[in-house]
Amino acid sequence: MIEERDPFFSFRIQEVIQETPDTKSFVLTPPAAGSVLCLSGQFLTFLFRNRKGEEVRRNYSVSSSPELGDPIRITVKRIPNGEFSRQLFDHAQPGDILKTIGASGFFTLPQGKEMPASLFFFAAGSGIAPVFSLIKTALHQDPLVKIVLIYSNPSESHTIFYQDLKSLQQAYPDRFQIEFLFSDAVRIRNRRLGIDLLEKLLLQYQVYQNPGTLFYLCGPFEYMRMITIVLRNQGFPAANIRKEIFEIHPPVQKTVPPDQDRHTIHLLLRDQEISFDTQYPETILQTAKRLHISLPYSCEAGQCGTCAATCLSGRVWMFKNEVLLEEEMAQGRVLTCTGFAVWGDVTIKYF
Ligand SMILES: Cc1cc2nc3c(=O)[nH]c(=O)nc-3n(C[C@H](O)[C@H](O)[C@H](O)COP(=O)(O)OP(=O)(O)OC[C@H]3O[C@@H](n4cnc5c(N)ncnc54)[C@H](O)[C@@H]3O)c2cc1C
Ligand code: FES
Repeated sequence: MIEERDPFFSFRIQEVIQETPDTKSFVLTPPAAGSVLCLSGQFLTFLFRNRKGEEVRRNYSVSSSPELGDPIRITVKRIPNGEFSRQLFDHAQPGDILKTIGASGFFTLPQGKEMPASLFFFAAGSGIAPVFSLIKTALHQDPLVKIVLIYSNPSESHTIFYQDLKSLQQAYPDRFQIEFLFSDAVRIRNRRLGIDLLEKLLLQYQVYQNPGTLFYLCGPFEYMRMITIVLRNQGFPAANIRKEIFEIHPPVQKTVPPDQDRHTIHLLLRDQEISFDTQYPETILQTAKRLHISLPYSCEAGQCGTCAATCLSGRVWMFKNEVLLEEEMAQGRVLTCTGFAVWGDVTIKYF
């Protein structure tokens, strides 16, 4: 028998800040001080109801620096035909309550490891939300780290945190440099990040002298793909390139698990132990949802990391993973939304 628990938190909107013509930030008051653990660069998964009354989930990255004592703030761009970004942008007011399952994500500063000598960020549009959080935290927490930000926008007036970034640059002139790229710039070179400009910027900021540089990318899919290809071609390891994908597309499963037998999943979730059987074609998460076991999830597409858990025994095979790095998988991290138990029973734990 599965004990029903309420795994949700209610955040109250404390303040609404107009950042650009189509973007607002929302400063949030957590339900009780310290009850939601959130790292810079992570996102909160919010629960909404669609017109049919069904529950729908959307992620918004934390754009403040919780580790520095900032209140939690999210920054939402209004998507013209978007259902919930429009709801937030057009109607959300101070005092309104937003329901969330809490924070998750791997777009964070190195955890339990030394900070590298340099960090290199690429952001486009609202992709600055988690990037701003990471930059501010890193500059404050590490007195040595050097940071470069390449930030693309249609124009200066559409540039989220333009003044805040300039202030940070003035506060840390030796350690923080920014290249603003505007589509309406007079100089063609400064309009769009293409392969040539990217290679020039990597040279200009002497990235090759710091092979341990960590890269963080957040922007449209094609933008991040181009940057990743260039960085990989220049010899930077995949483990040094961290991406946050905002636009989720339903996954297409092109491969099947090597073993399609029925297996048992033993779940260690909060302070409960739950066991259930699962079998292809259902993923672990799909079976749990069918059985009304409330697991954390959001995109259901192997792209956000909300469903990540640690595999303590057995093997989980994933048909898609665009979020976990090799080193995280080596530590047993798995995605339940695209994962199947293979070659026997599996024990997985949520932290
Ligand atoms: C890990 C993660 C973190 C995120 N953080 C932020 C954030 O900090 N700020 C923020 O504004 N958004 C963020 N997003 C995107 C956000 O979760 C929503 O997807 C977005 O607000 C659109 O939701 P919607 O309900 O308005 O649009 P929907 O009704 O779901 O979609 C309407 C249309 O818009 C397209 N679309 C969906 N998302 C985007 C997008 N990001 N850009 C362009 N077109 C899109 C869809 O393909 C569809 O055609 C994040 C997403 C993820 C997965
Ligand atoms: S729910 Fe997003 S990766 Fe699994």
